[in-house]
Amino acid sequence: MRYGLMPVTNLDLPPVSDIKFDAMKPEEIAAQLRCPNGDQAGDVAQRMNHANQSANRACLELLQVATGDRVLEIGPGNGAFAGEIVAGAAQVAYTGLDWSADMVDAARKLNRALVQQGEAAFLQGSSDALPFQRASFDKVLSVHTLYFWEHPERHLNEIRRVMKPGGRFCLAFADRAFMQALPFVAHGFTLYDFPHAERLLRASGFDILAERQLQDTGHSNTGDVVDKVINIIVATVPAFHVSSRPIQQDPGR
Ligand SMILES: C[S@@+](CC[C@H](N)C(=O)[O-])C[C@H]1O[C@@H](n2cnc3c(N)ncnc32)[C@H](O)[C@@H]1O
Repeated sequence: MRYGLMPVTNLDLPPVSDIKFDAMKPEEIAAQLRCPNGDQAGDVAQRMNHANQSANRACLELLQVATGDRVLEIGPGNGAFAGEIVAGAAQVAYTGLDWSADMVDAARKLNRALVQQGEAAFLQGSSDALPFQRASFDKVLSVHTLYFWEHPERHLNEIRRVMKPGGRFCLAFADRAFMQALPFVAHGFTLYDFPHAERLLRASGFDILAERQLQDTGHSNTGDVVDKVINIIVATVPAFHVSSRPIQQDPGR
């Protein structure tokens, strides 16, 4: 079943008027969203925190973090939402993995206390080669990352591998129909709708538990105010995963 969630806007972030919306070219915005880096990375991260807070809050709600959960976030940027995840239940252990070294540094600084207390860790890496043993995590989330994955099945297979059977995976992405009007998506974004993302997840061995669509008017990463449509899929790993590879024919028959 799909229905809209109300956007939530009470995250403790600097006012949007304090954030610089420099005149960046669409290709520069695209490159920074894919991998925030260099002098612009700090401003880009703050823009993302504002632009994406409703999607992140909705995802957290659907993730249903419980006592003792080990939570993995793929592409947390500067980790602005890690504190809320850890606060979601007792004894939560959070790991954020981002392929941007600058974002990993920023996330460690922003979440210094959590890192020092051993409640959060931030690592550099890519979700198509996760540095974790199988069945390491109860919950996994990833918000606004899918567009950048050249071979999405490699990332999804890895995510399934490191999830415990019965765990929850929340994947949030802006809907293709809304995204295609934005100027920066022509520069290396792959756009998805529900059916396409569902097919990918199922092919990687996930079962779909729920889908939600969030409608939210707010700032885009360009600084413009837009009507956003965000899709969230909640998936799980069944206890027994049957490979989708074709069965080899016995040549003797
Ligand atoms: C558009 S930003 C979104 C950041 C944050 N999740 C949010 O909602 O504001 C994408 C982030 O994910 C990271 N990223 C994208 N794909 C990734 C992957 N496969 N593995 C690790 N990091 C990834 C990028 O470096 C960037 O920090």
